[in-house]
Amino acid sequence: MSHNQGTSREAAISLRRLMPRLEERFAGRTDEAAWKAYSIRVRRHFPRLFELLYRLYGEQYDFFYHLERALRIATQMWLARRDELKALDALKEVDNQWFQSSRMLGAVCYVDLFAGDLAGLREHIPYLRELGVTFLHLMPLFRSPKGDNDGGYAVSSYRELEPRLGNMEQLAALADELRLHGISLVLDFVFNHTADDHDWARQALEGDEERQAFYRMFPDRELPNQFERTLRPIFPDEHPGAFTYHSRLRRWVWTSFHNYQWDLNYANPAVFNAMAEEMLFLANQGVEVLRLDAVAFVWKRLGTSCENLPEAHMIIQAFNALVHLAAPATVFLSEAIVHPDEVIKYIGEDECQLSYNPMLMALLWNTLATRDVTLLRSAMEQRFAIPAGCAWVNYIRCHDDIGWVFSDDDARALGIEPRDHRRFLNDFYIGRFEGSFARGLPFQEDPVSGDARVSGSAASLCGLEQALAAQDAAAADLAVRRILLLHGVILTIGGIPLIYLGDELGTLNDYHYSEDPQKDGDSRWVHRPRFDWESAARRHDPETPAGRIFHGLLQLIQLRQQNLAFTRSETEIVDTGNRYVFGYFRRNASQSVLVLANFSEAPQVLEARRLRLLGLRKVLADLVAGQTIAAVRELQMDPYQLRVMVGTT
Ligand code: GLC
Ligand code: GLC
Repeated sequence: MSHNQGTSREAAISLRRLMPRLEERFAGRTDEAAWKAYSIRVRRHFPRLFELLYRLYGEQYDFFYHLERALRIATQMWLARRDELKALDALKEVDNQWFQSSRMLGAVCYVDLFAGDLAGLREHIPYLRELGVTFLHLMPLFRSPKGDNDGGYAVSSYRELEPRLGNMEQLAALADELRLHGISLVLDFVFNHTADDHDWARQALEGDEERQAFYRMFPDRELPNQFERTLRPIFPDEHPGAFTYHSRLRRWVWTSFHNYQWDLNYANPAVFNAMAEEMLFLANQGVEVLRLDAVAFVWKRLGTSCENLPEAHMIIQAFNALVHLAAPATVFLSEAIVHPDEVIKYIGEDECQLSYNPMLMALLWNTLATRDVTLLRSAMEQRFAIPAGCAWVNYIRCHDDIGWVFSDDDARALGIEPRDHRRFLNDFYIGRFEGSFARGLPFQEDPVSGDARVSGSAASLCGLEQALAAQDAAAADLAVRRILLLHGVILTIGGIPLIYLGDELGTLNDYHYSEDPQKDGDSRWVHRPRFDWESAARRHDPETPAGRIFHGLLQLIQLRQQNLAFTRSETEIVDTGNRYVFGYFRRNASQSVLVLANFSEAPQVLEARRLRLLGLRKVLADLVAGQTIAAVRELQMDPYQLRVMVGTT
């Protein structure tokens, strides 16, 4: 990974050759001081860019052409960057750990479903501020095919928005306005594939060979068959395998996801450069975090799963180097919803500084179902730590399904048979398991392997839907407690908490999606309803579940903001001595707190001796309950209670 593995000499020579050409062409377009600062960045990051591109493309006859092109793109895009953004670059280069603050609170929404369009979104900034949002992920809003477009993840143009949502100028203005309110804009960089009506795909269809080489196409089934021996189907409901036949092209096109999403061919350096330009264009709109979609899939090699290959990491690292040149305020968030051993490999200051934490997400749901925190605890003890300078993005629900992405080995070490256990979890959350409180739907149930994932809103999966339907007040109370408990964990454990907007009001599943032929068949739409502003209007009414959830969350958010233990601090997972209670310390030089989370609907007791062993005093303060507690013999926990205790030695 390091760039001194032997190409530093070649990098230095190449830069000596390239720099004068760059200067001649571009230096005159800006002032001397700015150019100087830029060339310092080039000197700093070029060696690793060179190393990565050389390893990826060094064998190609025209390598040097593509190398120079990459550098030119970075320079042009940097020159095109607005002054405000260059000022932001300077700020964030100094404070490159800005995302470790306890003030960070993420939220995610679809612009149309949340607010109609970008203008509507601006009007709802006060709502986001009331919650304390500082990091806003707007789901893909780029131009995409009419009809089915995977919720915008089939991108027809990275430079145009869906007209019904607004235009690029409005988006850039919104980014500025959000920033004034302390909110960083997060957008997707959907770089594994384009829509089949992207200009490049259209040109490929018209016979343009250079464009055809942007994708992975095969004249017959020979190679596809060979590849498919080792591939996992991603959307088995839609098509088996990873290829789609295109009768106009008379070729098989690589489509990992839907048949209208064509995988880009990163073995072609022209693709890398073309996408680098699109990426920097997005950064120049004022986007501060780019969510790198489907990172696992960008490189393919025969005989492998074609997921998480070393070259996929090199591609991202090379993008990272370019961003450091041209738009250093930008950080990457990796969307790797894969085995935890693989998730971690995308995390690094030179790769993705932020990563979703799918294992925590999956294990929180696992623990709600089993009530037993043992697997959560042991997996987190081993796997929560990530490189310094990086942070998890912790979430409960997002727009996608829940896949049970824990490690089989972690499970087996505790005597849990992973296959059976995943089946149990699917049954539990789909509501097929006797006594389950959850109402979810299966997603991509594979009739061959029996595998499935789960769709459903947080509230429905936590039991609120069932409780309200049965008009069972006690069950509704438990459901609200579950919702607050899960959020309580993501709000207090290390990383950026990310709320799926609507969850703060206990939004239930919306089954109407099946009436829309574009959405029918993709159960993820059950948890992507239109935002319910009527319910939001009642958010201050403590008599409603929405009011209880909203206020419970606000309290936890404020607790997080106000306590130093949640800023730039470590997380240490502990054994509480009670298998229903998950516990961890958050601590730094200023403060230390112990978070305790009871995952059972029964009251629990923690032995005082155990707490003392962990360094706790007899008299403790619980920041959530706002009480001082003397834990002389034991500490009581209510059903699903979350405590944040101060008073350690
Ligand atoms: C990511 C998105 C998902 C989409 C897929 C293909 O996993 O989160 O919604 O279907 O990529 O782009
Ligand atoms: C992701 C994941 C898969 C997920 C899908 C979107 O890349 O690997 O598990 O379900 O895309 O739904």
